[in-house]
Amino acid sequence: MLPKINPTETQAWKALQQHFQQMRKVHMRDLFARDPERFEKFSLRFGDILFDYSKNIITEETMSLLLELAHACKVKEAIEAMFSGEKINETENRAVLHVALRNRSDEPIYLDGQNVMPQVNAVLEKMQRFCEQIHSKRWTGFTGKPIRYIVNIGIGGSDLGPVMVTEALKPYWLPDIEAHFVSNIDGTHIVETFKKIKPDETLFLIASKTFTTLETMTNAHTARKWLLEQGAREEDIKKHFVALSTNRQAVEQFGIDPENMFEFWDWVGGRYSLWSAIGLSIALTIGFDRFLELLDGAHVVDRYFRSEPLERNIPVIMALIGIWYGNFFGSETEAILPYDQYLHRFAAYFQQGNMESNGKSVDRTGRRVTYPTGPIVWGEPGTNGQHAFYQLIHQGTRLIPCDFIAPAISHNPVGDHHPKLLANFFAQTEALMKGKTRQEVEAELRKQGLDEQTIQRLTPFRVFEGNRPTNSFLIRQITPHTLGSLIALYEHKIFVQGVIWNIFSFDQWGVELGKQLAQTILPELEGDEPVQSHDSSTNGLINSYKSMRQH
Ligand code: F6P
Repeated sequence: MLPKINPTETQAWKALQQHFQQMRKVHMRDLFARDPERFEKFSLRFGDILFDYSKNIITEETMSLLLELAHACKVKEAIEAMFSGEKINETENRAVLHVALRNRSDEPIYLDGQNVMPQVNAVLEKMQRFCEQIHSKRWTGFTGKPIRYIVNIGIGGSDLGPVMVTEALKPYWLPDIEAHFVSNIDGTHIVETFKKIKPDETLFLIASKTFTTLETMTNAHTARKWLLEQGAREEDIKKHFVALSTNRQAVEQFGIDPENMFEFWDWVGGRYSLWSAIGLSIALTIGFDRFLELLDGAHVVDRYFRSEPLERNIPVIMALIGIWYGNFFGSETEAILPYDQYLHRFAAYFQQGNMESNGKSVDRTGRRVTYPTGPIVWGEPGTNGQHAFYQLIHQGTRLIPCDFIAPAISHNPVGDHHPKLLANFFAQTEALMKGKTRQEVEAELRKQGLDEQTIQRLTPFRVFEGNRPTNSFLIRQITPHTLGSLIALYEHKIFVQGVIWNIFSFDQWGVELGKQLAQTILPELEGDEPVQSHDSSTNGLINSYKSMRQH
């Protein structure tokens, strides 16, 4: 069980509120000028990852008050509760054990007195054997050709993780394998995928924890029908479909041989499932050994997260800094800005990770919270973002804390692209911190030979206040191992924040409403009869749709 402590009632929270009154007047420019040791004080290394959090509006006092808050909210105890298999997902009465999926030490992890590691390892072995069959080309499709196209059909956590990781690790793709992902129920997604694949060389992975999700089941049935139309027979289905799921019965009902089902368990949250059988598309695309390296990378972070004192614990610091801005400065969003094209789905992945986990307004006692919880998470790779939305980050009215992420070594060291990319990364975090003062702007304009009147007219528009906070993650290179570590750091940040906000981070009741409503409306779309059972807007939209499709 997690503690049920209202963070705003702790002494630390009250002290932070007072401290904020001083800190809101502080400029990071002055903090850096005053303390040449600031980078050393506020940066941490974990393996090949450097985490620099010195460009934040914090002092040692801020950090020590935030750490007091973490202690007061019993973060240490909560970490222990998660790792020891307690049912911390109380609204679903489930443990939260994605850490077991990547427990490469094989030390036992108990759930209800049973060690879960034998079943975790058995599925990993089954995945390994399956990868060997595909990669050795012993597994063939209905015309005897080996499998070349892997199509993962899933949505949410059964899609975003595999997509993000396979994209991030594209340099590691095996030569004869192509991965595709179908998530949207919009028929366009699957139809466009069909155009890129050959039926007799395609393996569909139906990835669904529940095996009931409307989008995934609809796409899976369409894929099955397509395969049969393309010349496969019923008995060929087993060569082309495997299931990644917790729901054996529904998998059998769909017609997938349970032999071809890769199991996981209800203690794996959908958005934390890429480490489970849901990661099969990753293992098939980059090779099973590389998949294990990804798990290793996460596992070393898990050990560190569990044992490192909170004041040197990167996910804890990440979480506390987020709380500092969200709950005291009033920031509403956080941007994740990877300076690596391969990480182009990283922000989208943690948009779900964060927003589905901590987008909650009821606390662990069932009462409405009186303070902001999970932030809006968004982002795009740099430098594209610089030419799109950085204007608002630099000069807009809102404070948007940003995470900058970049590899020191590129997988594509062509010409001087990488130094130029990283020059942008460093320049942006510096500019966001320092800004440009009135005096600096005036001097710049004078140098250009402008007259004094023009200088005075233009100056206000060219001043940058600065004091815009950033975290920087500099990673030696994006490998399966470092990526595994990076993902685990972000996952644990979300966990710590949920603990402090006194919310349940591992359920997602908010998503259920949409699922139920769509099921009610679907039959109403049949026929031409106007509907009247909804509000006037919904009736109007449905009835307009009915008449538009006729003309
Ligand atoms: O979007 C809601 C959700 O429940 C996610 O948590 C989950 O990752 C996704 O749907 C897919 O669910 P399933 O794997 O059961 O198909």
